[in-house]
Amino acid sequence: MTKKIAVLAGDGIGPEIVAEAVNVLNALGESFELEHAPVGGAGYEASGHPLPEATLKLAKEADAVLFGAVGDWKYDTLDRPLRPEQAILGLRKNLGLFANLRPAILYPELAGASTLKPEVVSGLDILIIRELTGDIYFGQPRGVRECPDGPFKGEREGFDTMRYAESEVRRIGHVAFQAARKRNKKVCSVDKANVLETFQFWKDIMIEVGKEYPDVELSHMYVDNAAMQLVKNPKQFDVLVTGNMFGDILSDQASMLTGSIGMLPSASLDANNKGLYEPSHGSAPDIAGKGIANPLATILSAAMMLRYSLNMAAQADRIEAAVKKVLQQGLRTADIYEAGTTKVSTREMGAAVLSVL
Ligand code: NAI
Ligand code: MG
Repeated sequence: MTKKIAVLAGDGIGPEIVAEAVNVLNALGESFELEHAPVGGAGYEASGHPLPEATLKLAKEADAVLFGAVGDWKYDTLDRPLRPEQAILGLRKNLGLFANLRPAILYPELAGASTLKPEVVSGLDILIIRELTGDIYFGQPRGVRECPDGPFKGEREGFDTMRYAESEVRRIGHVAFQAARKRNKKVCSVDKANVLETFQFWKDIMIEVGKEYPDVELSHMYVDNAAMQLVKNPKQFDVLVTGNMFGDILSDQASMLTGSIGMLPSASLDANNKGLYEPSHGSAPDIAGKGIANPLATILSAAMMLRYSLNMAAQADRIEAAVKKVLQQGLRTADIYEAGTTKVSTREMGAAVLSVL
């Protein structure tokens, strides 16, 4: 049966990197139905809304979504509901994509591209699982109001609400433990239970869920220490699971262990492994249109799509092997370039992966 893939390229470097991933998908010899739709700033330009109804409908109907990136400084003055970033938040919420998987793997060829010492990062293979539809990013109430009490009573104040329901913590916990079972059987739950009620609750629930997985070792770490440990000794982790905001920050930090955020793919899954696949980075307006963005995170995201949502693990393996091969050939986009390697453009990197395939 032909698999339908919604292709939402978005803004900035989004169209440049997604074009390369689409070429890779088309080179596999499978019959995909790829349908493109505008999203983010491109959606706003096309229809006045960052997540046009037709785009959301397509994303819901499709077997999987391949997403580029959204956002540009030029939209920063728009009201928040019209800003490009609302499109990705809206897709996550509307499709119920609560589990964000970000594998941080250091390809041995890129050991010199990391800003960390090779011995700290060589052989790195950790999986960061970020809860994606709860926490302070979605919690109500929020806004700006007159401060009702305390020493600043009467002044204006900005406020957001951090909250997690029990079932939200349980389901992301199960995703983490099940992933760890297929790996090195260790889960580290990252929280801030020493200060935040929400994360004491998170920790208590994780301990309960962990009892269902006696074969997996569960540990806990405060997020500030986790930030330090990720740089000091990242290989101590196997699966790291955390909330939406902490996961946002720690996964960007972890991207630098791999040499560049341009190398880090991601999967965002619902309860049935339907998913949206996107590079972990944003729209990189500083380099958009220059043809120098690294397309590998997006190409590797397409591989994750084949593995998790389309039941084509062998094709995912082929793509990942091809990426490894081009790195072995010494090809590097600017973000991972180092002396002695060959600097290539976005299109040349995509073409090199194609020719290996
Ligand atoms: P960013 O990830 O777009 O860029 C951070 C830095 O990494 C920049 O120097 C950029 O040039 C570089 N970079 C990112 N991807 C790269 C690639 N593939 N190859 C080479 N270099 C790359 O984050 P930033 O600058 O904070 O945000 C830019 C815009 O993207 C903002 O509007 C932001 O809201 C949006 N954004 C969108 C996301 C999404 O669509 N899921 C995620 C994060 C940010
Ligand atoms: Mg982020």
